[in-house]
Amino acid sequence: MPVELRNVSFTYAPGTPYEAQAVDDLSLTVCDGEFVGVMGKTGCGKSTLIQLIAGLISPSRGQILMDGEDINGRHFDRDRLRREVGVVVQFPEIQLFETTVRRDVSFGLRYFKWTEEEKEASVRQALGWMDFDYDAVKDLSPLGFSGGEKRRLAIAGVLAARPRILILDEPVAGLDPLGREAFLRLLGELNRNGTTILMVSHNADALAEYADRIVILKDGRLLRDGPTAEVFADYDALRANGAGVCQVREAAEALRRRGWKIPAGTVRYGQLLEYVSARKRQPAAGRNCAGAREDAPADSRNCADAREDAPADSRNCADARKDAPAGRCLL
Ligand SMILES: Nc1ncnc2c1ncn2[C@@H]1O[C@H](COP(=O)(O)OP(=O)(O)OP(=O)(O)O)[C@@H](O)[C@H]1O
Ligand SMILES: [Mg+2]
Repeated sequence: MPVELRNVSFTYAPGTPYEAQAVDDLSLTVCDGEFVGVMGKTGCGKSTLIQLIAGLISPSRGQILMDGEDINGRHFDRDRLRREVGVVVQFPEIQLFETTVRRDVSFGLRYFKWTEEEKEASVRQALGWMDFDYDAVKDLSPLGFSGGEKRRLAIAGVLAARPRILILDEPVAGLDPLGREAFLRLLGELNRNGTTILMVSHNADALAEYADRIVILKDGRLLRDGPTAEVFADYDALRANGAGVCQVREAAEALRRRGWKIPAGTVRYGQLLEYVSARKRQPAAGRNCAGAREDAPADSRNCADAREDAPADSRNCADARKDAPAGRCLL
């Protein structure tokens, strides 16, 4: 049980006209190896929660325990927190300050008892993960990079320390689509290899794809905490609380309404694709929409029916998807 919040509250500027209660009596446990997504409207307390868990601020009330020890207790080893918990803050690029990329990305390793070779190998790998060529960038100034590149450099600096727990606050905002995909896949791989991940994001699809569990905050309190598919099934609560809905789930539900036997709780693109592809693996004679949808109700067994709201010129599979390989009729 690595991280546990017990009735944690946090108030900014208490006793002043600027007083703001950002986290309110919040209890939450993140277990070893989990990938937990955190969502909620702007201002609901997500970044404050991240900073509390990272030990950057201390609760006004309540406790935060790591492996059962209070991280704000007098005897807690704060170096252990720095070694084991990696934090990508909301705008990490503002923390770049060293004269070269190599110095910046290795900054977090300065007190690690690793050899210089081990440090260099880790920095090289972290930069590679973030799509940089170590030899090409190591001597450059971080200030000469673009906004998105600076963000990737800053994330590399956190990954280089190989944290056991990785906490990320909106890490994919500002990355281009390919960079975002690659980074999310990397997070998935780190998680499969044992890294515990807590990620704040407004990107519902990213969380649906990778998180085991979703936590939704509202006004500093816990509104929902449950398995990803269950939380995303609650469309109304998500919409009402400013959290994006999961497009894959919406597509799966639309197909279910049209008679496809897609399992409830389908939220991942791979799951949906697998199901749809399984239906297309038909003998040649079945390579048309009717064949691909043999389990659909009779009245929707052709593309025109299934796509009655599509523009006239795309109301058949061949037209709609003329660039798709034979038999890849999705609707
Ligand atoms: N430094 C600060 N001083 C005073 N109040 C603050 C401070 N930082 C945040 N707050 C307030 O605390 C509340 C929670 O802020 P927080 O930054 O944790 O929200 P958030 O969920 O991360 O929002 P966003 O999605 O916009 O990043 C907000 O009402 C905010 O105005
Ligand atoms: Mg925030």
